[in-house]
Amino acid sequence: MRTSLTDRFDLAVPVVGAPMAGAAGGRLAAAISTSGALGMVGVGGGASPSWITEQGRAAAESGLAWGIGLLAWVLEAKPGQLDAVVDLAPPLVSVSYGSYARHVPILQQAGSAVATQVGTVDEARAAEQAGVDFIVARGGEGGGHGRNDVATLLLLQAVLDQVNVPVLAAGGIASPRGLAAVLAAGAAGAWVGTPFLACPEATVTEAARDLLVAASETDTSYGRVFDVGLRQAWPPEYGGRALRNQFFDQWVGRERELAEDEDAHAELIAAVERHDFEKAVIYAGQAVGLVRGLCAASDVVADFARASELLRHAASIPEDA
Ligand SMILES: Cc1cc2nc3c(=O)[nH]c(=O)nc-3n(C[C@H](O)[C@H](O)[C@H](O)COP(=O)(O)O)c2cc1C
Repeated sequence: MRTSLTDRFDLAVPVVGAPMAGAAGGRLAAAISTSGALGMVGVGGGASPSWITEQGRAAAESGLAWGIGLLAWVLEAKPGQLDAVVDLAPPLVSVSYGSYARHVPILQQAGSAVATQVGTVDEARAAEQAGVDFIVARGGEGGGHGRNDVATLLLLQAVLDQVNVPVLAAGGIASPRGLAAVLAAGAAGAWVGTPFLACPEATVTEAARDLLVAASETDTSYGRVFDVGLRQAWPPEYGGRALRNQFFDQWVGRERELAEDEDAHAELIAAVERHDFEKAVIYAGQAVGLVRGLCAASDVVADFARASELLRHAASIPEDA
């Protein structure tokens, strides 16, 4: 399975372990990279430059390709996050969700390839203009934040038709079947988050892991309830997909009221602190329905590698069959 992604980073499997703030630190990134894919560290709003340096060093320990994912809207207030990443110069950096274009040449000059996640064809065209090395076409079924306007397969087809930059597909790619499908369509690889969430190397509590394993593909919902409740300044076009819970059901459609309700805010913060997931958020995509149990990152990557059998089978189907 050689693609422009595997060639650029010397990978055995055309999969990037997506940056996931709160779940993907240096340990998960290193485990994914050691298994033949490319693991990334997710940097959230609260991450300090020293945390980034520490996690980046842990991810880099394998000596193989790895990456870091930044949130563009956070960098406005926390430029030190970018400085820490420039100092580390990981082989791959993603900057998504907000004004990222001015950071692209800085990161490239430091020696990193740059990716950004897009949710529409217009965003993909803008990413090509900004000079990124990889475009991640991320559909609405994906976990965590992003747009919910277009589903992965349609977005991938449309973006591949419009840009000349290598494209990775993200959102709902959870098995060798999904990887084979996007490679056959012309993607250079898959950008995979949710399927790694239940791995022991992810920084997810045991209670959250149990809920992820028990959830089906219909158990997520998309919206801004948790961002509003936690007072996080995400650009409004990027809501989040998470396991649906009592807090979401109580406040969806009433986000303006929630923005003013200090008791509800305090209640949510307290729930996060005591890991009460009837209220606290667990970000995950529809792919959660295929997460079956505690599975090492190396097993998840090895499973994706089976896409090559499916592609060989597809290639052997006679044209007149
Ligand atoms: C728990 C969680 C946290 C995430 N955090 C980030 C993040 O910090 N930065 C980012 O660019 N994307 C983040 N994402 C989005 C992922 O990079 C990716 O788009 C998504 O996981 C792909 O869809 P999938 O979950 O169906 O594989 C997160 C996703 C999840 C599930």
